[in-house]
Amino acid sequence: MQAQLNRILEEAKSQLQAAETLAQVDEIRVKVLGKKGQLTEILRGMGKLSPEERKVTGQMANSVRAEIEGMLEEKFEAVKKAAKEAQFAAEKIDVTEPGKDINVGVKHPVTITIEEISKVFMNMGFSIVEGPEVETVFNNFDGLNAGPNHPARDMTDTFYITEDILLRTQTSTVQVRTLQKQQPPIKVIAPGRTFRCDTPDATHSPMFHQIEGLVVDEGITMADLKGTLDSFAKQLFGPETKTKFRPHHFPFTEPSAEMDVSCFKCGGKGCRVCKGSGWIEILGCGMVHPNVLKVGNIDTEKYTGFAFGIGVERVAMLKYGVDDIRLFYENDMRFINQFK
Ligand code: DAH
Repeated sequence: MQAQLNRILEEAKSQLQAAETLAQVDEIRVKVLGKKGQLTEILRGMGKLSPEERKVTGQMANSVRAEIEGMLEEKFEAVKKAAKEAQFAAEKIDVTEPGKDINVGVKHPVTITIEEISKVFMNMGFSIVEGPEVETVFNNFDGLNAGPNHPARDMTDTFYITEDILLRTQTSTVQVRTLQKQQPPIKVIAPGRTFRCDTPDATHSPMFHQIEGLVVDEGITMADLKGTLDSFAKQLFGPETKTKFRPHHFPFTEPSAEMDVSCFKCGGKGCRVCKGSGWIEILGCGMVHPNVLKVGNIDTEKYTGFAFGIGVERVAMLKYGVDDIRLFYENDMRFINQFK
């Protein structure tokens, strides 16, 4: 029995030495000191011994147990400490390491331009409204006085989804929506995306942005149109900017015009930006056609209005000297980051 006790002690010693985890240490504890442990069994079997033997063996068993308990305790502590140290080592951070660069985004030049233009009109009392990019043919054409034979209705110019649904070719659709929803006074702008079947090149893109404007009230005249848009041009391009209105045709306005601004690069002398003319075309506009007002059941005897449509990319290209519209859509950060 004493030999057995020695074996248990030696075995426990060597096993504890090899143990690396708390689980392994505990396993040894159970194996030796547990309810069915080796040492427990021996203590239990002592009743069969003679009184002398029992005394000697009992003493020895107790000292073996004390020794093993001491070793277990020590090993538990050692394993715990080692685990903590390993964790600290794994979690160690080098406080002298330089910080990671935080990549702060920049606004896209098209967004910047929309915001700049919107701000000018908001300061003049316009509200911002929006309409969907997927539109009815009615809102894109018929409601805007563009009859069934209007050339822009052609399948080759417009992305049709069904016969009656298309990707809007102009933000003028929001005029129809606004007139149907709201009675005068109306004073809104509507920025948004528009779509046309164009092959991309330096000045064309099948997707681009416009900002629509619509004012309807009693006694609105061409003078209001000119005053508003002249003031807008001066706020956007500088106080010395001059404007000029050239007659044009749009189905939804009568009369219609295109507005040119004096070249903000050369001041009107003629340069590369204005192609030598001193003027730059900036928007289409006109007095709202009575047929359009009628779509919103607006009394055309009482109310008149004006409307305009600005090409956002065009303004952005002119302002920032961008010579290819496709640069706006490539998402090349070397291009975008220049607008910080
Ligand atoms: N929708 C026209 C276009 O895409 C632009 C335009 C012209 C809008 C005159 C207007 C306007 O509201 O009055 O070419």
